[in-house]
Amino acid sequence: MKGIVLAGGKGTRLYPNTISVSKQLLPVYDKPLIYYPLSVLLLANIRDILVISTPQDIGNYKNLLGDGSRLGVSITYTVQDKPRGLADAFILGADFIGSDSVCLVLGDNVFYGQYFSSILQKAQQQAETHGAAVFGYPVKHPEAFGVVEFDDSGKVISIEEKPQNPKSNYAVPGLYFYNNDVVEIAKNVKPSPRGEIEITSINNEYLRRGRLQVTLMGRGMVWLDTGSPRGMHKASAFVQTVQDMQGFYVSCIEEIAWRRGFITTQQLRKLGEELSMTEYGQYLLSICKEN
Ligand code: G1P
Repeated sequence: MKGIVLAGGKGTRLYPNTISVSKQLLPVYDKPLIYYPLSVLLLANIRDILVISTPQDIGNYKNLLGDGSRLGVSITYTVQDKPRGLADAFILGADFIGSDSVCLVLGDNVFYGQYFSSILQKAQQQAETHGAAVFGYPVKHPEAFGVVEFDDSGKVISIEEKPQNPKSNYAVPGLYFYNNDVVEIAKNVKPSPRGEIEITSINNEYLRRGRLQVTLMGRGMVWLDTGSPRGMHKASAFVQTVQDMQGFYVSCIEEIAWRRGFITTQQLRKLGEELSMTEYGQYLLSICKEN
């Protein structure tokens, strides 16, 4: 399975923070926001990754992540010249996807929770055998998201994008698993009233074909919204709280690459030494000592 991180957009809801810096490069506590979605792909054992961003910002992502070899993965880059909607990721990424299945994660989505790896593994299997796998996550204000509608028996009957009157409080987080049909589906999606080709239209097409699996995430799973300064601040506070309490780092891409066996202990030590002036680097050095 291939992986795409979409890190485009203007980030206007975070202005003036994002006038000259791409939102997904802003820090969430001690690491850039994009580390969080990237860690999701690594946790899912996905090693062939495409980062999509704007013409202004793509160079900064290249500076930050390089070709991925430091993490034992491949990272390539594609420019989205203007925001045409999330579904555009599969059109821009068609050659990269080739005949494979694909996971799309939005560059500003933060996930954290026990058993997350097995949730990811199951979703990958579902997409490969069934067509598509997405999630429903309970939120207080679903109007800002794609929202799942269920019938009386709990069966999913539609997904609505930013509905004024949400039919449930289950939002669809920015993490989507699809088989290869997604490329053809994306190419045929018609723009919504706001002029974008919506990921929700893709999900509804899979649903229409009887090929969409929606797994509800429970209250033990954390999905954080970074769509506002307040959301960014809360996400930072959350990460700091967990890290300070447990001593385990949240979404540490180097650690995940090492635990997944993508890099050796020696490579991890080198990454730690480069950052040894920070707590982050010291953390990498400390886990090297684990057996
Ligand atoms: C996008 C999707 C929406 C999804 C959300 C998750 O919205 O369109 O369906 O629920 O991401 O983060 P955006 O945040 O781009 O407005």
